[in-house]
Amino acid sequence: MKRVAVAHPNIALAKYWGKRDRGRNIPAVPSLSVTLAGMTTTTSVEDADADSFTLNGVLSSARPLERVLAMLDVLWREAGQTGQRPHVSVMSRNDFPTAAGLASSASAFAALAVAADAFLETNLGLARLSCIARRLSASAGRSLYGGFVELSAGDSGTLELAASPLAAASHWDLRVIVAVTTEAQKEVGSTEGMNRTTATSPLYEAWVNAAPGIFARVREAVLERDFGALVGPVEQSALTMHACALAADPGLVYWNGTTVEVLRAVRELRREGLPVCFTIDAGPHVKILTPAVHETAVSDVIASLPGVLRTIAACPGEGARLVGGA
Ligand code: DP6
Repeated sequence: MKRVAVAHPNIALAKYWGKRDRGRNIPAVPSLSVTLAGMTTTTSVEDADADSFTLNGVLSSARPLERVLAMLDVLWREAGQTGQRPHVSVMSRNDFPTAAGLASSASAFAALAVAADAFLETNLGLARLSCIARRLSASAGRSLYGGFVELSAGDSGTLELAASPLAAASHWDLRVIVAVTTEAQKEVGSTEGMNRTTATSPLYEAWVNAAPGIFARVREAVLERDFGALVGPVEQSALTMHACALAADPGLVYWNGTTVEVLRAVRELRREGLPVCFTIDAGPHVKILTPAVHETAVSDVIASLPGVLRTIAACPGEGARLVGGA
C-alpha cells in the first residue's frame, strides 16, 4: 500500500519566534500565515521491510529520519494501536530550495502527517494532525490548512495546540514574490536560533510583549483585506523578530547584503505608489507581498536587482491533502 500527500510551505505575516514550552513546542507568541501554492512538497509513505526516509532522492539517516519516524510513532499511538507499527519507506521531494529559509520543514511535516495518517488508517482529522505536526515544527501546524491560518500562543497551562483556518485562499488575491538571494543552506536553523534568542537576547521580552499587538493588527488587516493597514504590522513583525535575534549572544545575522538591498527596493517601490511590503524568515531571502494586479510590476523590479538569483511567485493555496496512490 502507498499513500501520497502534498503540502505547501507557508509564510508568516505575523511571526512566531520563541517557545513558551520547549518540550511541547508551544509558541511564545501568536502567528498568522498564508499557505503558498506554487511551492510544493510531495511525500509518499509505503510498506517496506525496514524504515527509511529519502529526501530529494538522497537517503537520510540520523536526525531527519528520527523526526519522520517520530511522527509515525505518534500517529500510531494516538490511534490507540499497541502492536508493532508497520515498517515504512517515506519519500519526500520539494520543488523549491530545502532548508534555506523557505519553510521547507512546514510543508514537509504537513505532507507527512496527511500521508502517514492515510497509510496507517488512523483518521485523526485535520485539527489533530495540525497539533501533531506543530509539535515537530510549529510552522508545520499551520500548513495543514489552506489560505490564511492562525496559531495562538495558548496560555501558561496549554499542553496541546492546533492551528486554525482564518480565511480561505480565495479570501484575498495576494501575491508573494520570493527573492532568492543564495542557494546555500542557512547556518543556524529556526529552532536553534529561537532558543538562543530566548536564552540570551536582551530584547526577547520586548518581542514577546509586542508580538500579540502586531498579530492583532495583521489579523484585522487580513480580515478586512486592507493592504494599506497590512504593511506596517507585517514589516514590524519581521524587523522586530530580527532585531531580537540580532541581539542574541552570539548575534544571529540571517541577512546578506542583497537582503538589505531588496528591503530598500521594496520601500522605494512603495514611495513610488505601489502597494507592496516585505517579510523575512530565518534566512536571507525576502518575501514580498503585493495585490495580484501589481505582481508583474513588482517582480520585474525585484528580479533585476543585483544579487537576486531568481524570484518565485506564489499565491494563497490549499492545505495539505492526499493525491492518489494505491
Ligand atoms: C521565522 O516552525 O521552523 O519562520 O517549531 O522550532 O520547528 P520549530 O520552528 P519553525 O520556526 C519558524 C520561524 C519563522 C516564523 C514563522 O514561520 O512564524
